[in-house]
Amino acid sequence: MKELIRKLTSVSSPSGREEPVRALIKEEITKHADEIWEDKLGNLIAAKHGGKTKVLLAAHMDEIGVIVTDIDEQGFLRFSNVGGINPQRLVGQRARFANGTIGVFGAEKLEENQKLTLSKLYLDIGARSAEEARQKVSVGEIATFYHEFSDLGERIVAKALDDRIGCAILIEALKRVANPQNDLYCTFTVQEEVGLRGARTAAFGIDPDLGIAIDVTGTGDTPEAERLAIKLGQGAAIKVKDNSLITHPMVKDLLTDLATKNNIPYQFEVLPFGGTDSGAIQLTKAGVPAGVISIPCRYLHTPSEMVDLNDVEAAVRLVVAVMETKLD
Ligand code: CO
Ligand code: ZN
Repeated sequence: MKELIRKLTSVSSPSGREEPVRALIKEEITKHADEIWEDKLGNLIAAKHGGKTKVLLAAHMDEIGVIVTDIDEQGFLRFSNVGGINPQRLVGQRARFANGTIGVFGAEKLEENQKLTLSKLYLDIGARSAEEARQKVSVGEIATFYHEFSDLGERIVAKALDDRIGCAILIEALKRVANPQNDLYCTFTVQEEVGLRGARTAAFGIDPDLGIAIDVTGTGDTPEAERLAIKLGQGAAIKVKDNSLITHPMVKDLLTDLATKNNIPYQFEVLPFGGTDSGAIQLTKAGVPAGVISIPCRYLHTPSEMVDLNDVEAAVRLVVAVMETKLD
């Protein structure tokens, strides 16, 4: 799976510009689905038929980035965020545009007591003038973090593991499922990072009986970390609550029972911030029971997100267990 994860994290596909990663995923799943289609917003849906209960499994394809708002007289790019970007973590990092242009994040000098905000930052693409900068990039273009994939053994580091790791898990589950017992809709969604937008239209179109998102979550296991029970390497996380969702009790029980029965390591997750596609799925039409299988991830929304492959394997097994358990 490492090679698949490496491939998925190496493409640049910010929210609204999911074409490159969608093409890659399509290629991976074509042989493993009964039907594949794209909806009008760009969600990629792979159906595999098995039973009556419609299960929507969602992983988002998009990643966070920065969008050029202005090019100044000296050729430095000013930008706004696409998704949640922490300005404190940007200086010295690199970003890459779709045409291959690379930039370095720099910051203006701050006055005492002044906080570093996005408006104090710029992207330096090595242009010597505004004219030279405009030849390379225009206002409205989006860059994503540019950082290589690193294999640390059981753990891996890459940009965009949020949520390419969810995509990899869903692809792997689709390849492994032998006896699907439900009507499965494996959905690779667009625009999660800007407000769970793709999941909204995908869920409306599919009209599922059950929705499960597969996405990363924060951990509390690093020095002086925020108090969170989630630890890297302690198993797949079954979400109980975040800012977008209180997991339906039926879904929480289903995932917990399946993990127990199949000896899959798991931990419960309460995230006091953030949201996932399930927050949108649950509010579709007259309501959909929804939950989330989370992958613990350190350094979320930075160019160096870290996951443990044992948690990834646990998540794949839990997704396959949902696929192969008759829910009618
Ligand atoms: Co995210
Ligand atoms: Zn995510």
